[in-house]
Parts: sequence; C-alpha cells; structure tokens
Amino acid sequence: MALVSSTPFLQHARQNGYCVGAFNVHTLEMLQAVVEAAVETESPLILQSTVGTVKHLGADYIAAAAQTAAKLNRIPIALHLDHCADFDLIVKCIRAGYTSVMIDASHSPFEENVAQTRKVVEVGRAAGVNVEAELGKVGGVEDEIAVGEEDATLADPQECKAFVELTGVSTLAPAIGTAHGIYKGDPNIDFDRIQAIAGVVSVPLVLHGGSGIPDDQVRRAVSLGMSKMNVATELRIAFSDAIKNVFKANPSENDPRKYMVPAKQALREMAIEKMIVCGSVGKAKHFR
Ligand code: 13P
Repeated sequence: MALVSSTPFLQHARQNGYCVGAFNVHTLEMLQAVVEAAVETESPLILQSTVGTVKHLGADYIAAAAQTAAKLNRIPIALHLDHCADFDLIVKCIRAGYTSVMIDASHSPFEENVAQTRKVVEVGRAAGVNVEAELGKVGGVEDEIAVGEEDATLADPQECKAFVELTGVSTLAPAIGTAHGIYKGDPNIDFDRIQAIAGVVSVPLVLHGGSGIPDDQVRRAVSLGMSKMNVATELRIAFSDAIKNVFKANPSENDPRKYMVPAKQALREMAIEKMIVCGSVGKAKHFR
C-alpha cells in the first residue's frame, strides 16, 4: 500500500468508539519499531514527526522511510506533521509525501486561528491530506513549543463547533487538560468537556499529551469521542533508557546495532501497549 490520509480511519474510529495511536518518531529505528508494533497488532497507524525532526532528518528522508513501511506492510499508514505554525513548511511536507498535517495557530486569537487553518485546509483538500488544528492551548513542552501551566487554556465547546464549521478542518485537537511531557501529578482531564465537545463536533477529536495518562483515563477519553492519541515522550524515554542500559553494562560498546536492537524492542513493546489501550488492535482489516 501507499501512505494514506488518516481521515478515513479516524472517522471510522470516531464512529466505532476506538482510537488510533499517533507516534512521534525521530530515527529510522523508532519508525520501524512503531511500524512493527502496528503490524503485530493489525492496527491502523499514524507516524508523526515534529517540526524539529523535519529539520533534523529532512522531510524527504522521513517520507521515503514511511512510504517504504507502507509499501512493505498490509496496514494503513499515514504520515503526519505534528504542531506546525509555518505554512511554507506544511506545503513542503505535503509535497514530500506527508498525508496529514497539523496547523497549530492555537497561540493566536480565534479569528486568526480560523484564518490560518482555512488556508491550510484549502491546500490539504486539494492534496487529499488530513488537516488537524488545535483550539485552546495544550500545556507543557513539545519540541520547540512550550506552553506554561499559567498559559494553558481549555477549549470551549461552542467555539469548537464554530471553528470546525468555519474552517472545514478534518480533525480537531481541543485542549481538555492533558499536557505534553510527563505529568508531575495525575493529569487533570476535563471529561465533561470532552463529552460536551464531542456532542457538538462530529469530526474525529485528537488527544494530545498521551504520555503518562493512566490507561483507564485514556479508555474513558476514547469512549467519549477521542479518536487519535498522540504519544511522544514515553516512547523517547523507553528508547533512550534501553540504550543507556546497554552502555551501563558495556561502556565501551561501539556498534550501533548492539544498542539499537534493544531500543527498538523497548519502543515496540511500549507502542503495542498504547495500541491495546487505544482499542485499535485488529482494525487494519477495514482499510485494505
Ligand atoms: P507527549 O509527549 O506527552 O506524549 O505528547 C505528545 C503529543 O501530544 C504530540 O503532539
């Protein structure tokens, strides 16, 4: 298969009460590990890269690796650009082969967010690409974007409804109390708000800050309408810890394959756990 837009499987997830994991990857091995997890669990998959990773690896390299994964496996795979405020970079990634993009103008006032999102939706529609946007502000640090606790604001359900109508966006990430990074205490998720937003917005909703949310809370958020869950920090930790352990046992190790193999294995296991909690296991068959 070729890379696909995530819109059809996210709509299917929304209609059928499950969620698709969207995993941030920074290296070829991370990408392969997440793909292996999706193949093993027969899950639809969204591979994600941040703007920082696009700058680090290059959109063409990332897209080529994701295309190869899609071609070699019988599961639907989308490639998504996470949190991007730069229109030109969004267009560049779409040209490189990304099948989903996020325009993040959530730091701007409502009207400006609408205007910027509409512009990306026009381009996305022409290219058959999924477009995600954010309303409210998700707290924490995601790559180059840092939102302090005091600046994090929750999305208003009526504004969400108006935003989707005005922009025609394919998927919406409303801030509902999760944060990027590892939580200091328990996450403070506003489940009533998710329910209220899902009640007035029919497009799939995106749960940002997927790391560190207890499984029962993920399941509850999914049952209320969250159809895509972004996970980054926990994957990086699993991958890096496995590498650190190799060097702890053998500080002179200098063969990357010796530390990448356990790192891939740790990440694969973590991704499988997330796919099980999301309820995406076995859903790939609907999209062949
Ligand atoms: P975490 O780093 O908390 O998993 O958040 C990921 C995310 O939401 C990416 O957009």
